Amino acid sequence: MKIKGLLQDIGGASRVTKARLGAMRSASLVADTFDPIGAVAEEWHPSVLRLVVTEIRSAGPTAKTVRLQKAGGGKLPPFYAGQFISLAFVLDGHVLCRPYSICSAPFEARREPGYVEITVRRKADGLVSDYVNDRLQVGDRLQGSMGHGQFFYEPLRDAKRIVGLAVGVGVTPFLSMAKEIRNGTLDADLTILYDASTEDIIRKDELDALACGRVRVVYVRPEDRDADGRLSADCIRQFSEGDTSYFLCGPQETVQGLREELKACGVPARRIRAEVTGQPTDIAQAAGYPAEQKNETYQLTVVRGVHRDVIPAKASESLVVACERAGILLLTDCRSGACGFCRTKVLQGKYYVCPENDGRRAADREFDYVHACATYPLSDMTIKIPIV
Ligand code: FES
Repeated sequence: MKIKGLLQDIGGASRVTKARLGAMRSASLVADTFDPIGAVAEEWHPSVLRLVVTEIRSAGPTAKTVRLQKAGGGKLPPFYAGQFISLAFVLDGHVLCRPYSICSAPFEARREPGYVEITVRRKADGLVSDYVNDRLQVGDRLQGSMGHGQFFYEPLRDAKRIVGLAVGVGVTPFLSMAKEIRNGTLDADLTILYDASTEDIIRKDELDALACGRVRVVYVRPEDRDADGRLSADCIRQFSEGDTSYFLCGPQETVQGLREELKACGVPARRIRAEVTGQPTDIAQAAGYPAEQKNETYQLTVVRGVHRDVIPAKASESLVVACERAGILLLTDCRSGACGFCRTKVLQGKYYVCPENDGRRAADREFDYVHACATYPLSDMTIKIPIV
């Protein structure tokens, strides 16, 4: 600051003081609480979305597509094609959270009114999937949050040419990508290699309608599979030209097998992105799991504040599933060990964490924090979970 002289500086300071006092006297006594940055953040990343089911339709012999809109109307938050929505269902008085890939496109969410669609396949012992297929009604209200996950095309990270290896209901994120490409709002070339039994193809009519221009859909034939029933390396090579990113989506065991197949084809790890649909069907098949303990049931003590519940926990089911069976709410998001939403402190006991799903930070490993959706008890255990 330039010094102008003692008297001039004192005069300047007193003018500023006078102006400030004047502004304070004329100010409103009611605080202006509007926070423009917070308002934008809440619109784009709301912590809780209140949704209403506006349409339910068949998506094939074993699946249904559910359309959700914002209760009260309006646009839905932006997301990337390939991301998922986490929904909370109240079943028999218990809250169960489930992630579903969004199969509608981002541009459809930003319409007025916007919507998202999920496709849910019925499965054996599928508590929530059966509920969605049999009991969910148009007009039902749900809470959720979106868009989650890293399974989307990012031009700085991925090759513009994408091969999507989809198994079963794992085709849903590719539907979203294909629509976005066809809309001209996603600049990529997509080949969907879809592995499903011919009688049970999800949303086949829509897939066929999307297949032109930069989107290609290839249904895997029996001769495209190897001796283990997986998509063969030869088949994958047919669709690999130049720099290609591979997006894998399906059951954990299949995704792991495909990942190995791609590595054997010389695809670098940075060109492989994977998303698993649901938890492993048989954890005893996972690397390092002590298969002889698979049929054991242990006592799980769950500490929530001053509450202590002792519940049974099967060695073959994750801690999250044990809590859900006992009606204890443990919030989840991805349910595949990746996001850390179900981070839980282990106070005592032995456990197994599936290495493919071990998304813990090094510090969490050191201090016995686990992601409960990817952790299986191998002895009686005590865990401490947040109160929600
Ligand atoms: S819910 Fe994401 S890590 Fe468990």
